Amino acid sequence: MSKGIFIIATDTGVGKTIISAGLLCLLLKNKYRAAYFKPVASGEVESGGAKASADAAFVKCAAGFSEDPELVTPFAFADAVAPHLAARLAGRRIDPDVIQKRLNELKNRYDIIVAEGAGGLAVPLNDEGYMQYDLIRELGFSCLLVSRAGLGTINHTLLTLGFARNAGLTIKGIVISGAGQTLIEEDNIATIKKLSGIKAIFTLPAIDAVDTEKLQPGNLQDAFEQSIHIDDIVALMETI
Ligand SMILES: Nc1ncnc2c1ncn2[C@@H]1O[C@H](COP(=O)(O)OP(=O)(O)OP(=O)(O)O)[C@@H](O)[C@H]1O
Ligand SMILES: [Mg+2]
Repeated sequence: MSKGIFIIATDTGVGKTIISAGLLCLLLKNKYRAAYFKPVASGEVESGGAKASADAAFVKCAAGFSEDPELVTPFAFADAVAPHLAARLAGRRIDPDVIQKRLNELKNRYDIIVAEGAGGLAVPLNDEGYMQYDLIRELGFSCLLVSRAGLGTINHTLLTLGFARNAGLTIKGIVISGAGQTLIEEDNIATIKKLSGIKAIFTLPAIDAVDTEKLQPGNLQDAFEQSIHIDDIVALMETI
């Protein structure tokens, strides 16, 4: 039996891959048998002389996690556009049954699955209205929400929490990524703690020289070791 968590965010480009990679670093360092899973991914990078799905390539370079790309990223598209459009351009259809089969395969091999979504929750995965939140619910994951630290994040975080609840999803915790010590950022954290109703709120500081698109982990591992106790995250995971 495996446990897992689905990393979602208030928007695209907020820090899901950074959080996924950092959690994988800590899990592997603490000898957990853990895997990264990105069911639907748009965008490729050059890695080791070949094209690779961008987010999985970053997790590989930052955390050293490597697996059969067919299992890690069942639907990987070259174009860095929304999933339904990327699939249409590639002449493919995102099939939830295929995703479930690949996940089952990973569950046979690993005790912990850290899954990463594409963009935010209300993301269509095909042209018929099958949505990312449908997929997360059907796969049986609960979620960890990644939010920005700066101006606008209270609104985005509370909107996402309400939306998730209506979609039948459970958000077990929030990671505020790139948090500094400005008045706005400190108040955002305090206000989200007060209004969200979520007890497990983590803050990750701005990491020096990290860039997921350029496959630069910077000092990601140190930042996670100093900010996150991995057993607090494992405690949020549910059987999938
Ligand atoms: N804690 C942080 N410290 C420094 N930079 C950060 C931090 N969190 C996010 N960023 C910045 O945000 C960028 C995007 O992060 P990331 O690729 O993890 O987003 P994402 O949510 O996975 O995006 P996508 O929806 O494309 O998968 C990073 O390359 C980095 O520049
Ligand atoms: Mg990502």
